[in-house]
Amino acid sequence: MSVKGKVVIITGAAQGIGLACAERFVAEGASVVLADVNEELGERVSSELANNSEHVRFISCNVAERLDVRNLLALTMDAFGGIDVLINAARLVDDVPFLELSEEELEKIMNVNFKGVFLVSQAVAQRMVKQLDEGRAAGTIINLSSQNAQFGSADHVAYASSKGAVEQLTRSMAISLAPYGIRINAIGVGGVNISSMDYFARNQAEKENFIRSTPMGRLAEPSEIAATALFLAGDHASFITGETIFVDGGRRILNGVMEEEE
Ligand SMILES: NC(=O)c1ccc[n+]([C@@H]2O[C@H](COP(=O)([O-])OP(=O)(O)OC[C@H]3O[C@@H](n4cnc5c(N)ncnc54)[C@H](O)[C@@H]3O)[C@@H](O)[C@H]2O)c1
Repeated sequence: MSVKGKVVIITGAAQGIGLACAERFVAEGASVVLADVNEELGERVSSELANNSEHVRFISCNVAERLDVRNLLALTMDAFGGIDVLINAARLVDDVPFLELSEEELEKIMNVNFKGVFLVSQAVAQRMVKQLDEGRAAGTIINLSSQNAQFGSADHVAYASSKGAVEQLTRSMAISLAPYGIRINAIGVGGVNISSMDYFARNQAEKENFIRSTPMGRLAEPSEIAATALFLAGDHASFITGETIFVDGGRRILNGVMEEEE
């Protein structure tokens, strides 16, 4: 399932799961373009990751802006001559109850988490289709989804809605692009052990409840999500498309129901 020599774009790659994916794909010999709105952090982590290698690039990119997306593609083509894998990891999260969620906040979250996935995926897929005529193998796209695509959420209404939309976009893109051999899948993430989980950082009791309602009794390591992305990007997943693979320690199949304490 080698991705050695493949060209990979990762959005939201300045930290968290996107960065873990960048680290794993670089370690596997891929050329990686890290894209993020956080220019300072993105530049820093990319130069650490590159360590003088020619196989890593960073671009400041707002996935919700068409022009930025066009520049992302142009930089990737200039640097590496093609695109084989796209990982959509950029995200924003709301943290207010439904009754207080403003229209502006809803639009902001949907623009990044849903429209951003659409804009980058469509531009990349158009390029991937063209590349087939140039003799390049079919590419693949991986969307970072969430258990919130399937559970309701009182405090993350816009986020959960955006992830539901991303799951449907994954299925629809998979059907549209299957004739070209281009596979589209999603990873349904549960809770991950990263510092950006501000919500958990502020709320230890919530974190303990979350872990208690996860059958495997812990959060995921970002590297476990990256390993799933690597599987989906590679040949071992050659007949998987339109799927969401849940990497959540069994939390979804328990339906988030908390175990009673003895
Ligand atoms: N961390 C978790 O527990 C968890 C749970 C479920 C799903 N997920 C999903 O996994 C993916 C990665 O999550 P994470 O925890 O690593 O997130 P994170 O918040 O740590 O990182 C997200 C990155 O996206 C970037 N970003 C935000 N807006 C952007 C924009 N407009 N354009 C480009 N980049 C932008 C941020 O700067 C940041 O670097 C997300 O899609 C998220 O929904 C994560």
